Amino acid sequence: MIKVLLATEKPFASVAVKGIKKIIEDAGFELVTLEKYTYHNDLIKAVQDVNALIIRSDNVNRQVIEAAKDLKIVVRAGAGYDNIDTVAATENKIVAMNTPGQNSNAVAELAIGMMVYYIRKGFSGSAGTELKGKILGIHSYGNIGKNVARIGKGFGMKVYAYSPSKPRKVIEDDGINYIGNLEELYSTCQFISASIPANAKTIKSINYELLSRMPEGATLINTARKEVIDEDGLLKMFAERKDFGYLSDIAPDCKSKIEEEFAGRFFFTPKKMGAQTAEANINAGLAAATQIVNFILHGDDTFKVN
Ligand code: 3PG
Repeated sequence: MIKVLLATEKPFASVAVKGIKKIIEDAGFELVTLEKYTYHNDLIKAVQDVNALIIRSDNVNRQVIEAAKDLKIVVRAGAGYDNIDTVAATENKIVAMNTPGQNSNAVAELAIGMMVYYIRKGFSGSAGTELKGKILGIHSYGNIGKNVARIGKGFGMKVYAYSPSKPRKVIEDDGINYIGNLEELYSTCQFISASIPANAKTIKSINYELLSRMPEGATLINTARKEVIDEDGLLKMFAERKDFGYLSDIAPDCKSKIEEEFAGRFFFTPKKMGAQTAEANINAGLAAATQIVNFILHGDDTFKVN
């Protein structure tokens, strides 16, 4: 019997796990779970006899891939698959997939939520400001960016978007202002919401050169990965620009320095929280289970990333 492992250090809502179980069992497969585990070794042990694997941000490195002798497919229930060693997967004839778009609304709502929290001074009782009429930049216009733009528009913000891949027409058809290059996006927008994959091109790409272009009240919202920020440039920006704030779904490595020196100008989630809603868990989890069934039974490799 095909054995599917759901390995989630940060567990899905139980309603999503039930849905995943149903899809897997209806296909005649078996589901086993490894939730809230502590050590990477737990994952390495658990993959040894499974044929398919569903994960979130769990670290599927070469060690895991090589321990998983019977593994045919790993699906990252979410967007970013920087936590999978796709080279090792390919070498071991393992298909890797993600579930693009399935948790993007949840992430976008968190981006906007962090903005509201920040400009209202953490609901502390002090007077804050409003989003209406402010300029929001979308870096870049993927599934999350599109949702941040939609919600920002709803707040009455003036929204600009940059995309390295989407044509101007796609952005303009959504009623969003198109900007053709990143430098101009950062020069134009007080708020920048960054939702970009972490890869060789983007790691440390949000640097001082870009950030220092931002106008008065510069606020960067990062729902991508901490690695896309150049932290030396981030600290320089904090030190030089008293108006600069940084809101991030997961703290940077230089968190303690920011906490010590720049109080009141940041917000960091304690764990990656963007996709942590029942809806996003259901959407991404069920999509992952369905993709596994379709791949094993029908060879369907839509959403393959390696
Ligand atoms: C993603 O890449 O889909 C998001 O960062 C969510 O990650 P998570 O599933 O670990 O919450």
